[in-house]
This record gives sequence, C-alpha cells and structure tokens, in this order.
Amino acid sequence: MSNDITVYLFQTASQQPKDVSQAAHSFVRRHIAQITDRDPDRLVFGRTKQGKPYAQNAGICFNLSHSGNMVAAAFAECEIGVDIEAVRPVNLRIAEGYFTESDRRYLAQAVDEQERRYRFFALWTAKEAYLKLHGAGLSGGLGFSVAEERGLLTTVVSERFPAAEVFHRFISGERFGTDSGCDAVCSLVQYSLSLCSDRINNVIFEHDDLTNEKSFYS
Ligand SMILES: CC(C)(COP(=O)(O)OP(=O)(O)OC[C@H]1O[C@@H](n2cnc3c(N)ncnc32)[C@H](O)[C@@H]1OP(=O)(O)O)[C@@H](O)C(=O)NCCC(=O)NCCS
Repeated sequence: MSNDITVYLFQTASQQPKDVSQAAHSFVRRHIAQITDRDPDRLVFGRTKQGKPYAQNAGICFNLSHSGNMVAAAFAECEIGVDIEAVRPVNLRIAEGYFTESDRRYLAQAVDEQERRYRFFALWTAKEAYLKLHGAGLSGGLGFSVAEERGLLTTVVSERFPAAEVFHRFISGERFGTDSGCDAVCSLVQYSLSLCSDRINNVIFEHDDLTNEKSFYS
C-alpha cells in the first residue's frame, strides 16, 4: 500500500449545496472509473450507517468535503478523511465547547485576531478529518486533542478511535481563477484543509474540470 493521498480541489459554478454535492459525486464516479479502468455507470456506491460514502469493490477509498462552492475530494488506497472550511469570521467562544485544553492553548498563542481565526479553522478541520476518517460524525465525540501549544499534532489519538496521521494546509482560492465561475471576492477566500489517514507518506494536489452529471446516489 502506497499511503499516498491524491486531493482534487475545484470550485463549482453553483453555490447551492445540492448542486455542489452532486457535482462532487459525479466527479468521484468519473475519477474512480478512470483510475480503475471501469465503466462509470457500473460503479456501485453506498454509505455506512453513519453516512460515510464508499465505492463497492473498487479497491480505492475516497472522502469528500465542501465549503461553499469549493470541493475537496481525496483518494487513497486506504481509508481517509478530509475536511475543508473557508477561513471566515467566527465566534471564537465556540472553541470553549469544541476544543480541549491543549487545543485552546494553541489557539491562545495566536498573535492577533486574524491568526486566531486561522488557527481555529486548522483545529476544526483537523478534528473533522479525524472523525471522517473513522466514519463518525459528531457522534464520534470531540474530546480529543489535535494540537499542543507549539503547533498542530501530526498524530492524533482519541479514546474511541485508533491513532491516525494528520496533514494540514491553508489554500488560497485565488489560484482557482475566474474561469471557475467564481467572482473576484470569492476567489480571494482562504481555506483550511486537513487530511487524516492511518499513515500519510505523500500528498498530491490536482485540479479537474467538472461536468454536471447525476449524483452517485441517484
Ligand atoms: C457530516 C459530517 C461528517 C461532516 O460534515 P461537514 O463538515 O458539515 O461537511 P463536509 O462538507 O466536510 O462533508 C460532507 C461530506 O462528508 C461525507 N460524509 C458524510 N458522512 C460522513 C461520515 N460519517 N464519515 C465520513 N464522511 C462522511 C459525505 O460525502 C458528505 O458529502 P455528501 O453528503 O455531499 O456526499 C459531520 O462531521 C458533521 O455533521 N459535522 C458538523 C460540523 C461541526 O459542527 N464540526 C465541529 C468540529 S470542531
């Protein structure tokens, strides 16, 4: 097993959650068909009881995340979790409820409001990616740390789930340009992206154009 993760990032023309989700599903179907040399219409997708989608007997794992019209689709040979969030104004008091003392110490080291906001979304996406790796929603519980005072942890462990490695990066929407159907304001959005898997050797970022096909659940 290579432990490489390939992440496709793209912005959809529509901001409507249903359209974004459908476009992401369509992309996943097309991409898995391409890399496994199968007929896209014959691929069968399902969801676990807690909602994590998977491709049956395809030999490839994936996970999806969207924020506004930005989609992150991650593919690997082993289970993965991905979360992307636009860095935006947020009531930082939320942190009291979601983050551990160790996470909060990391947040408190921010030099100003802007850095605190970035740190907040780094923590948030790392937590979500870990829960999504394990197929859990918030039912997985949030009482585990993803940071210490000096920075984000590269290995996360909780009482409920096994340890996993986390990769984090901030991404500028700017590089996706205006041909993505996004206006100038939207193109300046910064995103926080986290990936989580058993082991992460290498992360490869790609883009792709989207077609508006059917959702893989329809
Ligand atoms: C559903 C959940 C897994 C992610 O929700 P989210 O962050 O709002 O949404 P994202 O865009 O990142 O992810 C949605 C995608 O994850 C996938 N997904 C859904 N349930 C999943 C699960 N149990 N495990 C992994 N992936 C899942 C799906 O592909 C879904 O998109 P789709 O419905 O279009 O197919 C869940 O964790 C949740 O409800 N989160 C609430 C957010 C929150 O309050 N987080 C606090 C963190 S500090």
